[in-house]
Amino acid sequence: MADQYAQSGEDKRPTEIPALRWEEPPEGPVLVLLDQTRLPAEEVELVCTDASALVEAIRSLAVRGAPLLGIAGAYGVALAAVRGFEVAEAAAALAGARPTAVNLAVGVRRAQAAHQAALARTGDTRQAAAAALAAARALHREDTEASARMAAHGLGLLDELLPGGGHRVLTHCNTGSLVSGGEGTAFAVALAAHRAGRLRRLWVDETRPLLQGARLTAYEAARSDMTYTLLTDNAAGSLFAAGEVDAVLIGADRIAADGSVANKVGSYPLAVLARYHHVPFIVVAPVSTVDPDTRDGASIEIEQRPGYEVTEVTAPQVPVTGAGGGIPVAPLGTQAYNPAFDVTPPELVTAIVTEEGAVSPVTAEALAELCARSRQV
Ligand code: MRU
Repeated sequence: MADQYAQSGEDKRPTEIPALRWEEPPEGPVLVLLDQTRLPAEEVELVCTDASALVEAIRSLAVRGAPLLGIAGAYGVALAAVRGFEVAEAAAALAGARPTAVNLAVGVRRAQAAHQAALARTGDTRQAAAAALAAARALHREDTEASARMAAHGLGLLDELLPGGGHRVLTHCNTGSLVSGGEGTAFAVALAAHRAGRLRRLWVDETRPLLQGARLTAYEAARSDMTYTLLTDNAAGSLFAAGEVDAVLIGADRIAADGSVANKVGSYPLAVLARYHHVPFIVVAPVSTVDPDTRDGASIEIEQRPGYEVTEVTAPQVPVTGAGGGIPVAPLGTQAYNPAFDVTPPELVTAIVTEEGAVSPVTAEALAELCARSRQV
């Protein structure tokens, strides 16, 4: 089955535009985003001059993925502070822009706390704004470092679980440099395996309805010169049945205290398939994605997205007719079920890999210990 699927993307240009950057032109500081809704067709920058523009970019998924949402949220607070807006109001709007990825609220809180502490200490709004920006920059830097450490731990685990090498890894959604200050979470592990000459193939789930796998992961895999093959989400079952998957690597938007993992919708069915076919199901996420305040999977708020994302497809250059500005693929008025995420219970997760090491088996005790250890570092 192998070679008929061999495919390496044509697009090998290095990604020059980072997913996000802070700039200070003479007109005033801005947060510049690579607009992920336009990829892979165009690399277009989106310049946010205030927190409300960033809230809109978060809702529309121009900027997305748990770790990057945290970094963006922190810079958003800094942007509000530096530009003299009401910081508490901006922080509340940013933290509430999307509910499932805990990193967003964590990043916002961190910058806001730095702002409040500096304001209380100095009474000076400029110093408080500088403190918020310093907190955002620190978070950005830490995420870059965490990404490299997750990649190393994840590759170690893959090699341990699959001693033969030549890994065929299935991934879902997008978890690379487009979601991180560094090379990402699950994708960074696959990339490390590729660089070590031990990745035989990356199977990329297209990830309906917004196609983060097809549009973004395939884009990143092509640029990294990885051997990858795209599949519809529905095709994963037959791929497992054919014995073509050695491991599943995915990211996470929130990990509850009991080890339940919320990630892009379609992750849970992959975990069920992986268990049935005795394939390791590995979650890669920074410790900041573990939320000790969310008790279990049922307590995770799952974002519900508009139905038109399912009932329509959007294609540039084509006349639009649907309510969401796309081409209808279902009868007008069709109701759609469109949760952005699903929850995988801990018993289906082989390991959670973080920058502090891997947890396996996944238990509440092991996660609590990991969080405590990480706080001491
Ligand atoms: O809706 P999205 O595109 O923001 O969803 C992103 C995911 O589900 C990712 O898998 C998750 O954030 C982990 S990214 C490291």
